[in-house]
Amino acid sequence: MNFFQSRKLNFNCFIFSMGLSIGFVFAFYSKNILAPIQISISSYIPMTSSPMLQPDAIHPTVQTRPFLLAQTISPPLLVESTPPNKVAFMFLTRGPIPLSQLWELFFKGHEGLFSIYVHAHPSYNDTIPQDSVFHGTRIASKPVRWAHISLIDAEKRLLTNALLDPLNQRFVLLSDSCIPLFNFTTIYNYLANSKLSNIHAYDEDKESGRGRYNPQMSPDITIKDWRKASQWFEVTRDLAIRIVDEQKYYNLFKKYCHHPCFNDEHYLPTMINILYGRMISNHTLTFVDWSKVGPHPRRFVQNEITENLLNSIRSGYGECVYYGNTTSICVLFARKFSPDTLKPLLALAPLLFGLSS
Ligand SMILES: *[C@@H]1O[C@H](CO)[C@@H](O)[C@H](O)[C@H]1NC(C)=O
Ligand SMILES: *[C@@H]1O[C@H](CO)[C@@H](O)[C@H](O)[C@H]1NC(C)=O
Ligand SMILES: *[C@@H]1O[C@H](CO)[C@@H](O)[C@H](O)[C@H]1NC(C)=O
Ligand SMILES: *[C@@H]1O[C@H](CO)[C@@H](O)[C@H](O)[C@H]1NC(C)=O
Repeated sequence: MNFFQSRKLNFNCFIFSMGLSIGFVFAFYSKNILAPIQISISSYIPMTSSPMLQPDAIHPTVQTRPFLLAQTISPPLLVESTPPNKVAFMFLTRGPIPLSQLWELFFKGHEGLFSIYVHAHPSYNDTIPQDSVFHGTRIASKPVRWAHISLIDAEKRLLTNALLDPLNQRFVLLSDSCIPLFNFTTIYNYLANSKLSNIHAYDEDKESGRGRYNPQMSPDITIKDWRKASQWFEVTRDLAIRIVDEQKYYNLFKKYCHHPCFNDEHYLPTMINILYGRMISNHTLTFVDWSKVGPHPRRFVQNEITENLLNSIRSGYGECVYYGNTTSICVLFARKFSPDTLKPLLALAPLLFGLSS
């Protein structure tokens, strides 16, 4: 496969040239600038010797790149992204991905246009076959606790690993209960032509919104800055770099965001609202059903999976605006689907992925 060989070659050239330019940068930048950057790198790529790691992705000179870039790019502006070479699909899971067979169908035939990264619990043992698209996609991980800052660490770890591949231009965070709602081409094109990052950042004047604000965060974060969002974001490469690099608000959340504050629902929207509000569409691409009140959204089970359900999720928002044009595509992914939905979902895959026509 010439295509892959040339990409591999490009990547090797990239590593070599990064090595050169990092040496160059070292010669000119003071230690003050580099020191904190190196700390943030090591905290997102744990240097453990777990057998699941991909040590070839952990090359010290390559790791430094996103952070050096982050230091040299200009302050926040609306940055137009170029069409992506690849979309990074980042799965934050506990253990297995029960719906992986559906994802396999989704990815099939689109090699070269996507990358996959999986952050599972470090103690989880894989048995992923060699011919699976998920083979070798585990990244070095650390345990994650619900609502805790360790969730943000896991997200930053996924982004850091995905940033190591310069061809990744869009970064989607997914869970083990997510499904794609359209075929690869439709989703890829939607993201390729998006200029902004797709993450919501809303102000909720309730216990479940402003009620989680901790006044000890002021004056750096005021109640007016406080935002909420679902954890499942989609970001540009530019915003991904800034997220991985961000320390000030991260440290405030680490110190002051405790129950009933949820780090995963408030850190990114609040930080982005303060620093990079112009870089987001303020819209999420991942559907979830919160119509039943409670701490967790609705989880779809086997006997609920019908053509009607999938169609109603796809068109549930009516029409959305996509850079000036109206579109019926408002969301690209949906959750939460329990493991037993795999069979009916596979049966409906031709419909879902437009293969029957
Ligand atoms: C994973 O495998 C290792 C070595 O085979 C074993 O020691 C460990 O207990 C396993 N962990 C789990 C969670 O099954
Ligand atoms: C996003 O929209 C909400 C209203 O739905 C608004 O409160 C919030 O300020 C917006 N966020 C940004 C970053 O523009
Ligand atoms: C919007 O629609 C016009 C006319 O159909 C088309 O030329 C243009 O490419 C569309 N823009 C986007 C961002 O899809
Ligand atoms: C993907 O889905 C679209 C409709 O969303 C359909 O028009 C197109 O033919 C499908 N592409 C493939 C390769 O199946």
